[in-house]
Amino acid sequence: MLLKFAKTTALLALTVCSLNAADFNAQAEKDRIALIKYFEAKFEDPEKNRNTFFPYSTDNELKNSIAKGLKHQDFAKGNYAFNIDGKAQYEEIKEMPPYEDAIEAGEALYGKTFKNGKSFASCFPDPTIGGNYPYFDEKNKEVVTLGVAINECLTSNGEKAWKMKKGNMATLQAYFAYESMEAEKEIAIKIGSADAQEAYENGKKYYYSQRGYLKLSCATCHIQGAGQRVRNEKLSQLLGQTTHFPVHRLKWDGLGTLERRMAGCVKDEGQVPPKADSKEMRELLYFMAYMSNGMKIDGPDIRK
Ligand code: HEC
Repeated sequence: MLLKFAKTTALLALTVCSLNAADFNAQAEKDRIALIKYFEAKFEDPEKNRNTFFPYSTDNELKNSIAKGLKHQDFAKGNYAFNIDGKAQYEEIKEMPPYEDAIEAGEALYGKTFKNGKSFASCFPDPTIGGNYPYFDEKNKEVVTLGVAINECLTSNGEKAWKMKKGNMATLQAYFAYESMEAEKEIAIKIGSADAQEAYENGKKYYYSQRGYLKLSCATCHIQGAGQRVRNEKLSQLLGQTTHFPVHRLKWDGLGTLERRMAGCVKDEGQVPPKADSKEMRELLYFMAYMSNGMKIDGPDIRK
């Protein structure tokens, strides 16, 4: 089944065009709008549109397991946006979310003083910043993710950097996500220069590049494949994938960052994942987050 998706991947790859200096985000905006249109069309009526979007799904799945009529903001819920079967269990767990203590622990980390008397509040006076990362640092010409910014805050204050995927890093990010959600913040990624545009294009290229002997790309599963079943999971859509992290996964029995989840997916492609703070990972996240621009922050969340 996946090989069949792979063949159609190339068809959907978004075109690159040259732009003038004033609108560095023009291509990204085109990509984002095209993506919204694609997913709204795909989930408008899966049973009716099976030939276009769901050629490998069963009648029963299309009729009873996939929600229809989804609109832009609905996609922030990952695969629970359409996954009728999984939603009841999801909502049950959400009533007593296992990450509640982590939000409090994250708040404590935020307020804790470093050895030099400063704290995270010195670097991030406003904790409702979940939607502003990654951003492109014009001085150093690089993408800065929230994880990288947190570690820069630590090291510039004489503290040791944290691991990027779990532990304190995920805990502090859970607090930022929660505060951002409460303040009704949206993803608000900016592309303001030719260098930033290049970083975005690099991330996009990574997303669409086929890897491994199965020739899978992120897009194979999370664009063309979104809504289809892989083993006992339904594939989520790229749109809205960055709005709700970090997540508490039942499989992890704990919290993990977006980088942790993505590393798992790259391994599933049969590849060695790029380091969580590498240029590749940062640029990939920049592209993915831009695609979710304008969507509400909705984290932390839970996943299987
Ligand atoms: C073989 C199919 C496959 C490929 C290829 C793949 N993934 Fe995934 N991915 C999954 C499955 C299955 C899940 C769990 C169900 C879900 O939420 O989509 C998942 C989950 C995710 C999630 C979490 C979504 C959420 O809401 O919790 C992110 C983010 C993600 N993948 C990113 C990527 C990126 C980036 C790539 C490319 C480097 C990639 N994936 C490649 C199958 C794939």
